[in-house]
Amino acid sequence: MEKYIIEGGYKLHGKVSISGSKNASLPILIATLLTDNKVILHNVPKLKDVDTTISIIEFLGKKVVWKDESTLVVTQSGTAYKEKGFVVAPYELIKKMRASFLVSGALLANYNKVKTALPGGCAIGVRPVDIHIKAFEQLGIEHYIESGYEVFIKKKRVPKNSVIKFRYPSVGATENILMFLSKIPQQVTILNAACEPEVVDLANFLKKLGVQIEGAGSRTIKIVGCKKFTSSDIEYTVIPDRIEAGTFIIAAAITKGEIELNNVEPQHLTFVINKLRKSGLVIETENNKIYVLWKKSLKPQNITTRPYPYFPTDLQAQYMALMCTLKGSCVIKETVFENRFLHVGELLRMGANIVVEGRKAIVFGVEKLKSAEVMVSDLRAGAGLVLAALAAEGVSKISHIYHLDRGYEKLEEKISLLGGKIKRIDE
Ligand code: UD1
Repeated sequence: MEKYIIEGGYKLHGKVSISGSKNASLPILIATLLTDNKVILHNVPKLKDVDTTISIIEFLGKKVVWKDESTLVVTQSGTAYKEKGFVVAPYELIKKMRASFLVSGALLANYNKVKTALPGGCAIGVRPVDIHIKAFEQLGIEHYIESGYEVFIKKKRVPKNSVIKFRYPSVGATENILMFLSKIPQQVTILNAACEPEVVDLANFLKKLGVQIEGAGSRTIKIVGCKKFTSSDIEYTVIPDRIEAGTFIIAAAITKGEIELNNVEPQHLTFVINKLRKSGLVIETENNKIYVLWKKSLKPQNITTRPYPYFPTDLQAQYMALMCTLKGSCVIKETVFENRFLHVGELLRMGANIVVEGRKAIVFGVEKLKSAEVMVSDLRAGAGLVLAALAAEGVSKISHIYHLDRGYEKLEEKISLLGGKIKRIDE
């Protein structure tokens, strides 16, 4: 099993180039199912989750080739597999990654009968798909569950001037429904939609296909799909990964270093940047760059994770690692996922002082984190542990790093280039 060995105590300094967004690449790759045209996607990170998505769309009739380090070429090579008239997205592929459930929307845009395996929960929460399902129902799709599969049958037309109101601004549900509606040539309004930059990126990709979308990035999205997409090849560049960028900003802070991040979109991190500036970190931004400098001791700041534009849940573990090293205390509230404090137990093993009360963690800073053998429970918890190890005294060993490979491209290479002492071992 592969592990990271990290020797803490080195300031990270230098330049790092941020990869394309994982969470934008996955739905956009799935959206290629909507068209038979060639799609060239730039700025796609080479990650496990991207590989999984490629396997899924290949199973459903696409051919996908890496043209260079970050460019994918997607073409049509066959047709989707059918079982008794149903196009099937099988459990073996869907169970690997929850985001795969997004194929439902794209497949329902193309076919009348679709079976998608239900993805199940994961370490950080139960993660139901009721918001996706309720919206599909309202849009005239009948469904039932059979042997762990959600079986969808498109029976009725989408009601005229439909208005869908989500009970919560789910990122996945917004993306799923946008893909489904991309071929329905009448206006549908989505209320309480997610406004994450990844949703906007998917909407921009769909617009390139010819779909009319207004309001992506706000809580109200109006979409008018089209029966016939543009007939030319599509070339699209995915946005930079704001969570990877946020992780490196916090890496500079926790190691008291100085990092220049390139290929970033500073606006996507406004809330995080303001919070860290308030704690005393120097952060300057220009076009596609963020410059971070630790100048003086930082002061802890409370945060509450919430849907965009507020503090992202995907940076909560990394932020908590930083708070563990600051003098004073703060409160971290997690409102997005019900079980996203799995890193706390491991941080305690590194000498942190954290008290969890339900969805609230009270973090009391300690003089120095200490090295330990720790285990990664999920992707972002893993990032938090890597940051804690970079700041800790001594040599830490981090296991189950396959979670990190799902979402961080060339992590050890990037940290090493910044002067961090990290290596991957197999034992
Ligand atoms: C996406 C991101 C993930 C991020 C999350 C929140 C991808 C591939 N993943 O996940 O990294 O942490 O947004 O920013 O883009 N919920 C329901 N019912 C539903 C749908 C969601 O109860 O039908 C709940 C979830 O269990 C969770 C919360 O709503 O507690 C947020 O989920 P959602 O916004 O859908 O996140 P994902 O799209 O799964």
